[in-house]
Amino acid sequence: MLTAKVAYALFLLHTNWIRGEDKLSDTKQTVINIRDLYKIYRVGDTKVKALNGVDLTIYKGEFCAIVGTSGSGKSTLLNMLAGLEKPTKGEIVIAGEHMESKSENQLVRFRREHIGFIFQSFNLMSTMDAVENVSLPLNFQGIDKKERTRRAEEVLNLVGLSKHKKHKPTQMSGGQQQRVGVARALVVAPEIIFADEPTGNLDSNTSKEVMELMKKVVREKNQTLVMVTHDEKLASFADRIFQISDGKIIKIIDNRQPDLSFEEI
Ligand SMILES: Nc1ncnc2c1ncn2[C@@H]1O[C@H](COP(=O)(O)OP(=O)(O)O)[C@@H](O)[C@H]1O
Ligand SMILES: [Mg+2]
Repeated sequence: MLTAKVAYALFLLHTNWIRGEDKLSDTKQTVINIRDLYKIYRVGDTKVKALNGVDLTIYKGEFCAIVGTSGSGKSTLLNMLAGLEKPTKGEIVIAGEHMESKSENQLVRFRREHIGFIFQSFNLMSTMDAVENVSLPLNFQGIDKKERTRRAEEVLNLVGLSKHKKHKPTQMSGGQQQRVGVARALVVAPEIIFADEPTGNLDSNTSKEVMELMKKVVREKNQTLVMVTHDEKLASFADRIFQISDGKIIKIIDNRQPDLSFEEI
């Protein structure tokens, strides 16, 4: 039976979807632009081309998935995007700024101001409760404790954890812990969120819930979400799917236009 609550949730999802679509097609503002990106690792005498000439453009408000088998270059690509590693060659422009030419200090500041991360292993502080974990990124921003707590509680409500604010990670399920992880990535309201196998440690139902949640909250705030996964089912939650193989993007699938579902490249 379709309860009123479920119907209302579906209605909200639907209206958010329409709003997100409008924003996307109206503006199509580029947030991430990668040109001719290479990353070559040397191991002894051999060279590994982890990224072998990647070009891609991601627009504001999109939920993009980068999908590929193990060893295809997904984490390398995400690490380059986040400025955690330097490319061997190529350009990465995020929010109008070149990542490849920034110093370590500039990268740290850039990440704090523009980027949120969601990790596979949740990376929560075990001695801290949910509110403390979520408010952690705000400590770097010179915001007083009362305001930090207020904002953390607001985001925890958003991810459906209003009753778990005082719970420590060990007092929560895997799905609840990852909701805290999502809340922590959202609390600074970053323009861009990167997620590397965010549901890798969750069962399939909980993974679906976390996907829906991430999709909903980034839609509401018109944020850009880039998720890396080896799981095609999870990738299908995204607006666009980039398939990566041997360090190259081999196919882009557009989930928003069922009649024009993919472009071969
Ligand atoms: N630090 C490193 N040193 C050498 N080779 C690496 C390093 N990191 C990744 N690689 C290699 O680069 C390729 C891509 O790795 P990775 O980006 O981690 O793939 P994925 O995340 O898709 O599983 C693999 O062949 C991997 O062995
Ligand atoms: Mg990986």
